[in-house]
Amino acid sequence: MPDKIDYDAKIPNNVDLSSDRRLQRALEGWQPKFMHWWGEMGPTLETHGVYLRTAVSVGREGWAHFDHVVPDQYRWGVFLAERDPDRRIAFGEHQGEPAWQQVPAEYRADLQRLIVIQGDTEPASVEQQKLLGLTAPSLYDLRNLFQVNVEEGRHLWAMVYLLHAYFGKEGRTEAEALLYRNSGSPDAPRILGAFNEETADWLAFYMFTYFTDRDGKYQLGTLKESGFDPLSRTCEFMLKEEAHHMFVGTTGVDRVVQRSAELIREFDTLDIGPRGGIPLQIIQKYINFHYTVSLDLFGSETSTNGANYYTAGLKGRWQETRRKDDHQLTNDVGILERPRADGTWETEEMQAILLLNLDLRAEYMADCQTGIKRWNRILEKHEIDFQFKLPHPGFNRDVGINASQHITPEGTIVDEATWQQGKHNWLPTTEDLTFVRSLMQPVYERGKIASWVAPPTNGINGKPFDYDYVHLP
Ligand SMILES: [Fe+2]
Ligand SMILES: [Fe+2]
Repeated sequence: MPDKIDYDAKIPNNVDLSSDRRLQRALEGWQPKFMHWWGEMGPTLETHGVYLRTAVSVGREGWAHFDHVVPDQYRWGVFLAERDPDRRIAFGEHQGEPAWQQVPAEYRADLQRLIVIQGDTEPASVEQQKLLGLTAPSLYDLRNLFQVNVEEGRHLWAMVYLLHAYFGKEGRTEAEALLYRNSGSPDAPRILGAFNEETADWLAFYMFTYFTDRDGKYQLGTLKESGFDPLSRTCEFMLKEEAHHMFVGTTGVDRVVQRSAELIREFDTLDIGPRGGIPLQIIQKYINFHYTVSLDLFGSETSTNGANYYTAGLKGRWQETRRKDDHQLTNDVGILERPRADGTWETEEMQAILLLNLDLRAEYMADCQTGIKRWNRILEKHEIDFQFKLPHPGFNRDVGINASQHITPEGTIVDEATWQQGKHNWLPTTEDLTFVRSLMQPVYERGKIASWVAPPTNGINGKPFDYDYVHLP
């Protein structure tokens, strides 16, 4: 399998597309539909060029090329990580068998479902971020937004390729539907809740790329373990692109916290709203919101589907091959904490294989904690007596065992009245959102930055912060 990508083809690829005329024609038929979708649902802001990276190879070193590109002319394509000819299935009842190069008939429906659900999230985030280009705090940020958007568009291509190549007519129908559903649409919404929420301001964008793209990392991580080798290789390369999205989130929140901390010191008050900064309490509320809607993406704590996918070898655990157990989980147990109607918590011992969503969620939660730590370190450095916290996983949930309960960020089960009273302290209120939105004035002068966020410590690809990342008309 060539590591190099063929950019002479109408659809750039490293899957030797030209050798399969039917597939090539089918994808070339889908391409204008994608372009139409991008035109309608992609970024609103017009540019004459954005300093974007494009994948040139899928190898470990130097896979990206940077240049100014008009986003509409970005070369979206199909890039799979290199094939390991000796790869074997690492878990479940097919453990040790060679990875599948074709879809096993008995798992066709399940695999298609997994690919459609993953695929649906990719264009959704582009739709959610459609308007953000109108209010970017700097050209550097604007460039990052476009980078994330074109790559989410490419991730859609990644899933559509699999649907077209391996799932026949049904796959092609599903590929059309991925463009038909839209984020927040009343008639045809995206499949998962978090992808129907608005990303209305740049703090929400940083939170989304920190918390929701990070969910993506963990989901892709489980699909990378799949016995279906083309899915595994697709996800492996997507994970490389995804790392930059999370970098945008991590450093984005860093820079907001940094700026707020500077203003708090400068004016000796936590009330920095009138000084053009975002108060720490509002940042905490955004964390509470984005973290908990992202927890919903892990699904119910107990899942027989999850167990079946695992046993079948379709979807593994995070870093499956590094785990030191039998990779079958038939005799293992796990603990589930659940809220009781009387306001207390009970723990239940269950088969570990039924708790795989919870297992993945635990990995994710630990990862999110590292962000909290680094943001608190910024506050400490400025000697500010405030600490960010991740809320209890039962807080503000719409999915799973906590969905029917009201639970505070501290994990106390409370009644409706207490919830209503506390809610405005825990989640962004209309006033908070309006205030943050009022700060969102575009700053499109080279080297300049908005009042509410600090400049980045480094530019992109070794360029300085005041580089002309975006050419505007
Ligand atoms: Fe993605
Ligand atoms: Fe992403």
